[in-house]
Amino acid sequence: MKPVQVGLLGIGTVGSGTFKVLQRNQEEIRRRAGRGIRIATVADLDTARASAVVGDHAKVVNDARAVIADPTIDIVVELIGGYGIAKTLVLEAIAAGKHVVTANKALLAVHGNEIFAAARAKGVMVAFEAAVAGGIPIIKALREGLTANRIEWVAGIINGTTNFILSEMRSKGLDFGVVLKEAQRLGYAEADPTFDIEGVDAAHKATIMSAIAFGVPVQFDKAHVEGITALQAADIRYAEQLGYRIKLLGITRRRDTGIELRVHPTLIPATRLIANVEGAMNAVVVMGDAVGPTLYYGKGAGSEPTASAVIADLVDITRLHTADPDHRVPHLAFQPGELQATPILPIDEVVTAFYLRLQVADQAGVLARITTILAEHDISIDALLQRESAEGERQTDVIILTHDTVEGRMKAALAKMQALPTVLAPIVKIRKEELS
Ligand code: HSE
Repeated sequence: MKPVQVGLLGIGTVGSGTFKVLQRNQEEIRRRAGRGIRIATVADLDTARASAVVGDHAKVVNDARAVIADPTIDIVVELIGGYGIAKTLVLEAIAAGKHVVTANKALLAVHGNEIFAAARAKGVMVAFEAAVAGGIPIIKALREGLTANRIEWVAGIINGTTNFILSEMRSKGLDFGVVLKEAQRLGYAEADPTFDIEGVDAAHKATIMSAIAFGVPVQFDKAHVEGITALQAADIRYAEQLGYRIKLLGITRRRDTGIELRVHPTLIPATRLIANVEGAMNAVVVMGDAVGPTLYYGKGAGSEPTASAVIADLVDITRLHTADPDHRVPHLAFQPGELQATPILPIDEVVTAFYLRLQVADQAGVLARITTILAEHDISIDALLQRESAEGERQTDVIILTHDTVEGRMKAALAKMQALPTVLAPIVKIRKEELS
């Protein structure tokens, strides 16, 4: 049978990986898919770069619309990124009746509902395994492998840049700014790393996982997003003394009142497997009611790891494109008519534990006043550490770990503590999760 014809929009890092892996493994992929999969046309503004990758194995054009308009193309792979032209092209490809594969997490987290609705109306597939955690097949696992389960929560290290920075900060005792520069020099961090270090990239991915885990529309605008720019080496050190590591986690959790969707630095017990995921690696823990916790680990970015996910989607589409659209796996795991309007909870209603660091005057009664405020807000202390003051020093650090509480209540208590004249600097607050 004639190979499935693929048009690639963008042949940068992931596109060239996709081309190479498809070439290298074409025979095994054909045996799995039941047909060959061939990249027939590549569109890239840099046609010289594209030609250098594909040689005479594919046609190179500089106009993405020429690929979309080509009636011989069955599947369009969008690897341009961003919400701008990529959105227009994806919607045009769908309108032209093409199946779409995309690695574009930003696009799906923000415009996914519109894109999936357009794809449903046209009877085409939009596949996006590469959009979350690169080469880790977490979309497949959540959507299909764990389909028997009521998912309770998902927590993941889903941004390699920030995990690399946090690993370096911890192992070398360095501050954020120093490690960021090193990460840029090594090519881990982009020249403009804002989306990574501010938690936006992780929030895009958490938003997509949340929708698939709980059967709700994608709602990036409701996600609570905090990055790692304010994290200090001292807190990584204190966390370690208390048996915790700090990771940037994307968390989504089912509560009776709604769904939590948040990205922020998080203390997790150093004994958890996910706490030991270092460098640019990604990992996701999914808690299902039947299976319990499952952990998925691997490379979340890079040329061939991400290509691995793109090609898995190409194989899925090759196998399923002749199937009745109603019998394909739904884009967001749940049947489109079964998505629910469960609210995403505002951060003040999130339930979590806290790490607090207070720089205080080292004098009688200071700790008593702080613990009284916590008690008045019904916040229970789990552990407490005070740094021994140096000779003649009149201030110290007090570290408090709390049990779970509602964030809004913690905010009220923090405002009271911050107002004490014996609290000498802004209180550091980092959320803590046991992931048990
Ligand atoms: N920039 C991301 C990361 C990879 O550092 O993990 C693409 O989402």
